[in-house]
Amino acid sequence: MMVKCDLCIKNGTIVTGSDTFQSSIYVKDEKILAITAAEDETYEAEETIDAKGLHVLPGLIDTHVHSRDPGPTHKEDFYHSTRAAAAGGITTLFEMPNTTPPVDNETHFALQKDNLSSKAAVDFGLWGICLGHLNNEKLPALHKQGVIGFKFFWGYAVHEETFQLMYNYKPGMEKVIPPFHDGEVYEMMEHVAKTGQIFAVHAENNDLIQTLTDRVEKRGGRSYEDLLEGRPSLTEFLTVQTGIAMARATGVRFHVLHVSSGDSVEIIRQAQREGLPVTVETCPHYLFLSAEQYDEIGSTMKVYPPVKYKKDQEAIWEGILDGTISSVCSDHAPHTSSEKDGELWSIPAGMCGVETLAPLMLNAVSEKRITLNRFVQLLSEEPARMYGIAPQKGTIHPGSDADFTFVDMEMEDKIDINKLHSKSKVSAYHNFPVKGWPVRTIVRGKTVMDKGSVTAESAGCLVTPAAKGDMLYE
Ligand code: DOR
Ligand code: ZN
Repeated sequence: MMVKCDLCIKNGTIVTGSDTFQSSIYVKDEKILAITAAEDETYEAEETIDAKGLHVLPGLIDTHVHSRDPGPTHKEDFYHSTRAAAAGGITTLFEMPNTTPPVDNETHFALQKDNLSSKAAVDFGLWGICLGHLNNEKLPALHKQGVIGFKFFWGYAVHEETFQLMYNYKPGMEKVIPPFHDGEVYEMMEHVAKTGQIFAVHAENNDLIQTLTDRVEKRGGRSYEDLLEGRPSLTEFLTVQTGIAMARATGVRFHVLHVSSGDSVEIIRQAQREGLPVTVETCPHYLFLSAEQYDEIGSTMKVYPPVKYKKDQEAIWEGILDGTISSVCSDHAPHTSSEKDGELWSIPAGMCGVETLAPLMLNAVSEKRITLNRFVQLLSEEPARMYGIAPQKGTIHPGSDADFTFVDMEMEDKIDINKLHSKSKVSAYHNFPVKGWPVRTIVRGKTVMDKGSVTAESAGCLVTPAAKGDMLYE
């Protein structure tokens, strides 16, 4: 009997976290119908794509994107960030909640779902934000609606009305919610623990930053080294250490976002050995940039937490290799070129990343720092598993969404900021040579990027964890 289906992908080399093999894949109604060793006459596909010479990966997931929509959309918006994602081989992204309004309650979640659905070129999950006493009671509702996890900007002050982050906060500033105290953080963790979801933190200790940055400023220090003297590894380490101790006490799943220092990686490794539910991610800037390169690269590389020294970079790679670090994401956080053009001290932190994440990591595969299987674990399998969206996403398996990223490991080109699809084109990687590029992006059976051209319509859908709404205890 002939089975009709929508799409056949033939002659590709399928790559999963643990396997590499030749197969044909058949897709029907946006899902994977069958995977067969060779072309199979049982299936009649409307469209056939020949993936000869290419690797076919489960769709890549970027778990950390700030599209700023709604909010400061002069920097970026969801239309642009999701097209940048498609161009960079990303089929699902998780949108950060520091928007205006933030994703802090049921109403704002529903608004954000509608807002982003109308613009999305790829699928997306929504982070919920933790604002302590301001929204602890709202967390169960956000959990029921299907946030992907809860984010807390530990060490940040936020604007009282817009909830935008204060990049260069000083105590005494007006209309600002100052950084939360540890007691409030502990309570947030208690609340999130009941949902069983991840409590993910930006980790920088603001007290220490204030004291050390003041000292540097008083003596007139304004160099990148001075910036790091004001925000040393210790600021991250202290927060991670406190977070681990509180995770031990509350049972919350504690996730460290964008780890930047070797000391933090080491203490997380120890926590994992102890069996605590502690996970950690990092980003390309901590893997490919270091303070030693600041003179050459300049202020585009200002991000928070700041990129540290070569020795930290090496320790972070070690964490990738031994499995301490389970995912790599972009922390896509664009600002306009003119905003980034000022003096290091006063400019905002963040740069584009969603479109360069996969190419930079594929280049690391070409350089044999990691295998392509490990790449799939870091950018697809592990994110899907950790955030509870597997097996819908993150795997090539019958029944799963037909999300694929095709990569050409022989293709060589340079990253060109002028070709980025983001609204603001600020990146530290201009002219960075890359071997290994995503060449096709398929979301639920539909091609959204082919050979660099983005063909997406705004058909991206919200993705929610399979276990949304199940509370561990009330
Ligand atoms: O560099 C950063 N930019 N770090 C953050 O934590 C936030 C982000 C942003 O939203 O601009
Ligand atoms: Zn971020």
